[in-house]
Amino acid sequence: MAIPQSFIQQLLQQCDIEDVIASYVTLRSEGSRKKALCPFHSEKTPSFIVYPNTQSFYCFGCGAGGDVITFIRRIENLDYVEAVKLLAQRAGMTVPEDAESDRAGKLKVRILEINREAARFFHQTLKTPDGQPGLRYLKGERKLSDHTIVKYGLGYARDSWDALYRHLRGKGYTVEELEAAKVISRGKNGHYYDFFRNRVIYPVIDLRGNVIAFGGRVLDDSKPKYLNTPDTPVFKKSRNLFSLNFAKNAVASKRLILAEGYMDVIAIHAAGFENVVATLGTALTSDQARLMKNYADEVIICYDSDGPGQAATHRAINLLSEVGLTAKTIRMEGAKDPDEFIKKFGAKRFELLLNGAGNAVEFELRKIREQVDLNDTNGKIEYIRRAVPLIADIQSRLEREVYAGIVSRETGVDAKSFLSQVDAAIRRKARKQEDGEWRDIYQAKDVRTDRVNPDRAKFLRASQAEATLIALAVRDPSVLTIIQSRLKPEDFPTAFNRRVYERVLWVTEQFGDCPPALLNEPFSEPEVDRISQILAAHAEDRMSDQLLNDCIAVLEEQRRSLRGKDTRTMSLEELEARRKQRQKQE
Ligand code: CTP
Ligand code: MN
Repeated sequence: MAIPQSFIQQLLQQCDIEDVIASYVTLRSEGSRKKALCPFHSEKTPSFIVYPNTQSFYCFGCGAGGDVITFIRRIENLDYVEAVKLLAQRAGMTVPEDAESDRAGKLKVRILEINREAARFFHQTLKTPDGQPGLRYLKGERKLSDHTIVKYGLGYARDSWDALYRHLRGKGYTVEELEAAKVISRGKNGHYYDFFRNRVIYPVIDLRGNVIAFGGRVLDDSKPKYLNTPDTPVFKKSRNLFSLNFAKNAVASKRLILAEGYMDVIAIHAAGFENVVATLGTALTSDQARLMKNYADEVIICYDSDGPGQAATHRAINLLSEVGLTAKTIRMEGAKDPDEFIKKFGAKRFELLLNGAGNAVEFELRKIREQVDLNDTNGKIEYIRRAVPLIADIQSRLEREVYAGIVSRETGVDAKSFLSQVDAAIRRKARKQEDGEWRDIYQAKDVRTDRVNPDRAKFLRASQAEATLIALAVRDPSVLTIIQSRLKPEDFPTAFNRRVYERVLWVTEQFGDCPPALLNEPFSEPEVDRISQILAAHAEDRMSDQLLNDCIAVLEEQRRSLRGKDTRTMSLEELEARRKQRQKQE
């Protein structure tokens, strides 16, 4: 274990979860708990609850939960040790130095050095004879200026198995470090070879100016067209955006342009629109949408005009709107992507496109119109059916009326009756959202796909009892004595809850009680979510001997039935009793 638990315990006394969370979101009191809009997903009504009693939080909307340390980990995107350090700093405490966390931190520093050195190496290569294929491609084929090549630090990985490997080994980096940075791979024969070979290189730079990853493109039509650095200790592709390091300084307009690829970004940037970013070889994620929300109010999506590009536009519109960004789209005629458009028609025409960017609703309505036949009654009905939910998503009544007018003109259907359908859809949606936010924990609905506790489906009743006992024991350590007098950990039939219970026992034995932060420490993020859900679901249970007894009895009964007598030696009465009990459980 990295940091001594006794230090964590001291830290927890200094860091009240309410204070810490209140510096990120606005908390409102509700009885003994606090409520807020969840910072981990987008919602309009608060379902994020902080429990001062157990020093934990849980979101009934998205299922995220944990203690003060897991909260900091998530919101600041830090690992455990970094989160503890940040909290310690806040409380004016010093984390006892520790070999392992030190090692993880040092490795990250080394990886960043390796990346910087590799980026420099790739870039310098362009100036050598070996680099001419790359330079010819960037300047000749893609028409990039020297200025752009230098600004983006573009480079070339020469056609060699181990040029970078030898270069970096010569600089004193170990094979383990190079592998951790993912700049080399290990072949079946045990030899190491460069990850990027014969490709032009686009370095990915974070907001602090670190080189965190690379994209590499082939010079011809061979496959795969792009290679991207996989996730490493310093890089998570779903949480970064290409060129955000430049774009963040160009968002006075509170507007970002979202392009599909490296080359589009570079072309748009070079044409004078520096507020442009792209995802890194994956579809847009909600993390990335939230990241953009930090800098902009509006995002203009400029994906390729082909089928996949338009499908991706549709997905992006949803993700962006969910975090409260206004999504707009452009319609490129005569070019497949922004790079080609700018080359063909110039920056001025591209600017006209941006300024005339249609909003998301226009984009979606046009898409439907292209798929139905408006001269046909069925086509009209289909068009209206699909337009209703789109218009219902618009916040402003006035705007909804404008679109209702458009749809009415296009279909000949009365605008008023169209609007009344829209209103009905809005009411349905509001109801559904509210239900959804509360439904999940009360229903055993995802029992079948329960990855955290796969045994739960087999022991529905018993796992409910296990959960209640765990929650009661965390709240009140004296309860543990009673549980322990009647049950052994082995009597908890589901493996996950048993592990949690054993951890509660251990922590309570060591420290006299069981703060969730110590309880959570050995568990993964989804496991911590589950533990928080258990604590949250039972936060309002009134502790009583009756409740405690009932839960223990369920597990005792389960133990008997599991251990069971061999059915061959049972009497008829016993068999019948057992059958009845089974039925009751199901
Ligand atoms: N991409 C990828 N792997 C591939 C193809 C694409 O990771 N095999 C990612 C890259 O991030 C790329 C983006 O998807 O930049 C968009 O793909 P595409 O439009 O094909 O690439 P462009 O950047 O437009 O490249 P080019 O114009 O050079 O073909
Ligand atoms: Mn493209």
